[in-house]
Amino acid sequence: MPDRPLAHAMTDWSSRMRDRSAVEAQYSTTDRLSRRRSIWGPGPEGVDPNVLLRDAIVALHPRHAVEIGCGTGALAASVCRVLPSCDYLATDLSPAMVAATAAHGVRAEVSDAGSLPVPDGWADVVVAAWMLYHVPDLDGVLREVARVLAPDGTLLAVTNGDRHLATLLADVGVGPAQTQFSSENGAASLREHFGEVSQRDVETLATFPDHGAATAYLDTIDPTLGAALPAFQGPRSDAGFTTIFTARNPRPF
Ligand SMILES: C[S@@+](CC[C@H](N)C(=O)[O-])C[C@H]1O[C@@H](n2cnc3c(N)ncnc32)[C@H](O)[C@@H]1O
Repeated sequence: MPDRPLAHAMTDWSSRMRDRSAVEAQYSTTDRLSRRRSIWGPGPEGVDPNVLLRDAIVALHPRHAVEIGCGTGALAASVCRVLPSCDYLATDLSPAMVAATAAHGVRAEVSDAGSLPVPDGWADVVVAAWMLYHVPDLDGVLREVARVLAPDGTLLAVTNGDRHLATLLADVGVGPAQTQFSSENGAASLREHFGEVSQRDVETLATFPDHGAATAYLDTIDPTLGAALPAFQGPRSDAGFTTIFTARNPRPF
C-alpha cells in the first residue's frame, strides 16, 4: 500500500482540480484526456452519459449553442452531425483542445469560461461537460453562463459524484474525489443562478484490461499515483458516478 505522504498529497482534491497552472498543464495536450475517456463505458443501466447529453442537446433544437471546456470536441462533432443548422460555438481554455475540436470541422475558439465571446442572450443552450470542477470562480462562470443564455435557454452540465472511481482511488490510498461541482453539491450552486434545476444520475463503468492500463490511467491524473497501485492479475472494473444537470430560467444578471 502507498505511504501516507501520497495520501496526504492527494487529499485536497477540490483545490488541485481548480488550480489554474495545474489545469493548463493537464490539458496542454489532448493525450491525457483521450486516454481517460477511452476506458469508460455504460454501467448497470446500459446508459452512456455522453449519448444522453448529446440527445438532450438535440432534443432542445438549439439555433445557437455554446460549449465551455469542449475538450477534444467529440460531443460538439456528434451534435453538429445531427443538427447541421445549429450555430455551435465550442470553447476551451486550451489551444490544443480547440485545435482538436476545429479539426472535426466545428467552430471553436480559445476562451475562458468566465468571459465568453458571445452577446447577452445569444445561446439557446450552454453545455459544460466535466469542466465546472476546474474553474477557479464557479459563481462567476455560472453568472457568465446566465448572461449568454436566452431567457428560455438551458444549461446542461455534467459532472462526477464523490464516489466516482472510489474503489480504484482507495487502492492507491486516496480518499473520495470531492470537488466544488459534484453530483452531491452541483444543484445548490446552480440554484443560485437558475430558477429550475433537475438532475439525472448515471452509473458508469471503467474497464482496465490489465494493471498497466490502470496505472497509465492513474498517471494521467498524477504521475505518482500509478506507481502506488498494488499489482493485480487480469482485467478490473471500477464504478463511476456521473450526473447530468439541467438548469432553466436563468436569473437576470
Ligand atoms: C475534463 S476535460 C472535459 C472535456 C470535455 N468536455 C469532455 O467531456 O471530454 C475539462 C476541459 O475543460 C477545459 N477547461 C478547464 N478550465 C477551463 C476554463 N476556465 N475555461 C474554459 N475551459 C476550461 C480544459 O482545458 C479541458 O479541455
